[in-house]
Amino acid sequence: MARLEADGPNAKQIEFWNSPVGDSWTEMMDSQDRMLGPLGEAAMAAAQIAPDDRVIDIGCGCGTTTLELARRVGPAGYVLGIDVSTPMLERARERAAREENSSLDLQNRDAATYQFEPQSFDRAFSRFGVMFFADPAAAFSNIRAALKSGGRLAFVCWQPLELNPWMAKTITVATQYLERPDPPGPDDPGPFAFREPDRVNGILFDAGFTGIEITPNRLALDFGLDIESAASKLTQLGPMSQPIAQATADIQARIRADLASAIEDYLTDDGVKIDSATWIVSAENP
Ligand SMILES: C[S@@+](CC[C@H](N)C(=O)[O-])C[C@H]1O[C@@H](n2cnc3c(N)ncnc32)[C@H](O)[C@@H]1O
Repeated sequence: MARLEADGPNAKQIEFWNSPVGDSWTEMMDSQDRMLGPLGEAAMAAAQIAPDDRVIDIGCGCGTTTLELARRVGPAGYVLGIDVSTPMLERARERAAREENSSLDLQNRDAATYQFEPQSFDRAFSRFGVMFFADPAAAFSNIRAALKSGGRLAFVCWQPLELNPWMAKTITVATQYLERPDPPGPDDPGPFAFREPDRVNGILFDAGFTGIEITPNRLALDFGLDIESAASKLTQLGPMSQPIAQATADIQARIRADLASAIEDYLTDDGVKIDSATWIVSAENP
């Protein structure tokens, strides 16, 4: 299937999520869901999803949260999952087809510019899918216009890199062997673009939201049962994933070994649990 054309204000991110990164996320779906599941749950609680709600899942990826939202709103509700990544959205479509859930729709489109039906949704939700807009205030204005008056937005995003050792350690180790491609500018789109709550507050205010709440959330993430597979998973995440994938087998093995040493303190009786810090953000369309 042809991948979404990299066009419009978010062309760079569309290209990125349709590169091998999108395929890798699709392959890692189960372990990503194990790692991110509790954080999505926290954002869903903040969204206050109710039966019969009409909900948008922004940057829905492989559709795990979309399917869960569809279960929560029930057959009289409706969920629209939207994502720019063709491989990830295709996976979501395969899964949705198996569930035969008529209250679900999936669109391989850019949420920043998609023409949602105006004022037709009760909730807009996202698990780490909203930090990639080139013009976040314009994107959130577009999303707000889709919400009914009194409609609610809720999402989870990362606090600063330094508070997320699962990513910080990977970058530190990998950049000892490989060059980091184009380190992002402070406000550029990327996983840590919403690390500063004042910036997030300003973006949502400019987009017309009120009642903005930004709550810190600390949680140890589940990276699987053993250090070796956790180290291997870490090499597939974040800005160094592509350079590592393109490196020689020897360099890859050395990075995995160094990472394994760097995370050994996180091995518990229940597997590898690495600290994380996120923001749970909610706001209302007045
Ligand atoms: C970090 S992944 C999270 C995926 C999924 N929500 C999850 O938790 O597994 C970010 C997702 O946002 C999507 N994305 C990035 N920019 C987007 C945009 N402008 N419109 C829609 N989706 C976007 C990416 O394709 C990717 O699937």
